[in-house]
Amino acid sequence: MSTFRLAHLSDPHLTPPDSAMRGGGLSKRVLSRFAWRRKRHRHDPAVLETIAADVRAARPDHVAVTGDLTNFATPEEFAAAARWLERLGDPSAVTVSPGNHDALVSRGAPARFAPWSRWLGDRPDAEFPHIRVRGPVAVINACSAVPTAPHLATGELGSAQLQRLSEALEETGAKGLFRVLLVHHPIAPGLVSKRKSLTDAQALRELLARRGAELVLHGHAHEALLNRVNGPSAAIPTLGVPSASTPPGHHDPAARWNLIEIARGADGFQLRVQARGVRDGPVVAPLGAFTLAA
Ligand SMILES: [Fe+2]
Ligand SMILES: [Fe+2]
Repeated sequence: MSTFRLAHLSDPHLTPPDSAMRGGGLSKRVLSRFAWRRKRHRHDPAVLETIAADVRAARPDHVAVTGDLTNFATPEEFAAAARWLERLGDPSAVTVSPGNHDALVSRGAPARFAPWSRWLGDRPDAEFPHIRVRGPVAVINACSAVPTAPHLATGELGSAQLQRLSEALEETGAKGLFRVLLVHHPIAPGLVSKRKSLTDAQALRELLARRGAELVLHGHAHEALLNRVNGPSAAIPTLGVPSASTPPGHHDPAARWNLIEIARGADGFQLRVQARGVRDGPVVAPLGAFTLAA
């Protein structure tokens, strides 16, 4: 029985370059800069580097980053995030699902996340969801990141993406692959407030109940979360991780990441999840482990 090792981290909120803090008139980006100045101590680049080094040292088969790499979605931040991703691993082994902060405003944001195309999927010209088959696993990368009005952090997949997702789940499910759906926003009900929610989560849950998936990975809530949504037979686990850059001692939980080991057994897939994160200082330690049947 071979094991596929998948790393999941999220919401790095990389510290913006100084140039990303200037200009733009009165816009959502300007309002977000006020919020960033208030919250910037919640995201420490040294903590993020410690987490990223621990992920690299674990030598996972694949890394999933579920969004909010930037804060204001400026071209400078996209370039800085691409340099960060470059260090995280080979682009063919790292998949990024953009977050609401990566699509903060439509004006001035890189079109269709172009600077990150090598981390979105295997075919840069394809639309979301991107599908990457790696061993027994299909990484199905959906995008819930859409520009929103000020003070909203909602997400949306849209009916066209949901239709393509339905086909992707059916196709990869028919091949017996372990389907991991990446999406920035949580999909189980009640995990975030309405202004932060995925507006078509109900439609996605209905789709998953019909087509199935083996695991859903998300970010956005900046919390360690394990929930379940209905599948055609068994329930589908949904896992969220805190921001990968939050130091200990804040309102939000401290940075952590999950190492998810996926093994095909006689009765289907088995999952073992090991949480690793910072507790007191800039050292990553094991935080616990649990198993899940899928
Ligand atoms: Fe975030
Ligand atoms: Fe978010």
